[in-house]
Amino acid sequence: MLASPPRLGILGLGYVGLPLAAAFGRHFDTVGFDIDPDRIAELARGHDRTREVPDAELAAAGRLRLSASPEDLRDCNVYIVTVPTPIDEAQRPDLTPLLSACRLLGRMLAPGDLVVFESTVYPGTTEEVCVPVLEEASGLVFNRDFFCGYSPERINPGDHARRVTDIVKLTSGSTPETAERVDALYRTIIRAGTFKTSSIRVAEAAKVIENVQRDVNIALVNELALIFQRLGIDTLEVLEAAGTKWNFLPFRPGLVGGHCIGVDPYYLTHKAEVTGYHPELILAARRINSRMGTYVADRVIRLMSERGRAIAGARVLVLGLAFKENCPDLRNTRVVDIVRELAAAGAQVDVYDPWADAAEAERTCHLRLLAEIPAGVYDALIVAVAHREFQAMGAERIRAFGKPGAVLYDVKAVLPSAAVDERL
Ligand SMILES: NC(=O)c1ccc[n+]([C@@H]2O[C@H](COP(=O)([O-])OP(=O)(O)OC[C@H]3O[C@@H](n4cnc5c(N)ncnc54)[C@H](O)[C@@H]3O)[C@@H](O)[C@H]2O)c1
Repeated sequence: MLASPPRLGILGLGYVGLPLAAAFGRHFDTVGFDIDPDRIAELARGHDRTREVPDAELAAAGRLRLSASPEDLRDCNVYIVTVPTPIDEAQRPDLTPLLSACRLLGRMLAPGDLVVFESTVYPGTTEEVCVPVLEEASGLVFNRDFFCGYSPERINPGDHARRVTDIVKLTSGSTPETAERVDALYRTIIRAGTFKTSSIRVAEAAKVIENVQRDVNIALVNELALIFQRLGIDTLEVLEAAGTKWNFLPFRPGLVGGHCIGVDPYYLTHKAEVTGYHPELILAARRINSRMGTYVADRVIRLMSERGRAIAGARVLVLGLAFKENCPDLRNTRVVDIVRELAAAGAQVDVYDPWADAAEAERTCHLRLLAEIPAGVYDALIVAVAHREFQAMGAERIRAFGKPGAVLYDVKAVLPSAAVDERL
C-alpha cells in the first residue's frame, strides 16, 4: 500500500541507519542525513568505518544521497529516525538526540508525511515524547496531518550472516492505515518478512525486552561463574554439560558492554519507576553485569599475588578493547573497567585491539592502543575479547608476550582451559 513512491530521509547514519539507507537507496530516492559532517565525508569517500556496509554495497545504493545539511531533507515525505538513545551518568534515558531530531523534522514536515522511529526506547516514547515535539515544531496535527510509526532495529553489529534484510522486522503505526503503510515500506527491503504489531507501544516494548532478556540471562551465568570460581569448578564445562538438556539456554559469562544490552534495560526500568514499580530482577542483573570487569581485575591481582608478584609496578597486557568480538565498536565497552581497576592498583596496562580504531580508543576510552605487542615483558596477560586474531594466536603465542610464569586470564574462553591460569 505504497500510494506514491516514498522519498525517504534517514536521520543518523550509524550502525543502524547506514545499512538501512544502503538497502532503501537501491529502491527509492533516499537522503541519508547525519549531523556529523565527518561521518558524511567518510561515507562519501565510499567507506564505512563500522564495517557494517561493504564498499560495494554502499556503491550499489544508486539512489542514496548523503548529506549533513538539514535542508536536503525538505523534499522527503517519509522520515526514518535512527539516532542514538544513550543513558546519562545517572543511568537515566538521555533523549537529547531523539528530541533534536524531532525538532529538526518538525521544521520539515508537510501534510501527509510519515515519521518512523527505529531507535530503541521505552514504551510510550514515540507518542508521549516525540509526537508533541513534532506537533509543536511543525504546527501540524498528529494523525490528521502527519503520522508516525515505530519499527525497531534488531541488527547485531559484526554479524554478517544476519544483516538487516535477513531479520524479521517489527512494524507498527499510529493508525491502522499507517501501520500498513509502514509495513509495506519495509516489505520492499526485508527479505525475512515483517511482523505488524497492534500498536506502537507493543513494538517499542518488544524491542526493549529483547535486550532485557539477554541482560538478565547473562547476569545469571555471570553469577554462576562467581559461585563456581569459589567452588573450583570450570563454569564453561558446567554450562556445556547442562546445555545437553534441550531447554537449557546457551548463555555464556562475560562483560556486557555496547550500545544496547547494557543500556536499554535502563530505558524500561526508568519507565517502570515512573509508573511506581521498582524493578528488582532487571536492576539486579544490571548490577551483576556491570561489576564483572572489576571482578576480572581482582582475580588477576589475586592470581599474581599467589605467585608472589605485586600488581604495583607490574606490566599487564589486555587483548581486545571492543565491546564484542570481530567488531570495532568501542561504545560502552566494559574492558575499560578491567584496565581502570588494574591501573588504579598501580599496574602499567597496555591494550591491543586489531579491530579498534586507535584515534577513537584515545578519544572515547582515553587509551592509547599498542600498534605492536612487545615480547616477554608482561606479568599478566588478559584475553578480554574473543577476536578471531586472538583465537588464531593460540595460548603459546600469547604466553610469549609475557615473562616466564606470567598469569594468563581468559575472559571469553578463547583458549583451552588447560592452557590458561583461569577463565571466567
Ligand atoms: N548498534 C546496534 O547494534 C543497534 C541495534 C539495534 C538498535 N539500535 C538502536 O538504534 C539507535 C541507533 O544506534 P546506532 O548503533 O546506529 O548509533 P550510532 O552511534 O552508530 O549512530 C548514530 C548516528 O546518529 C547521528 N546523530 C546523532 N544525533 C543526530 C541527529 N539529531 N540527527 C541526525 N543524526 C544524528 C550520529 O552522528 C551517528 O552517526 C539506538 O537507539 C540504538 O539503541 C542499535
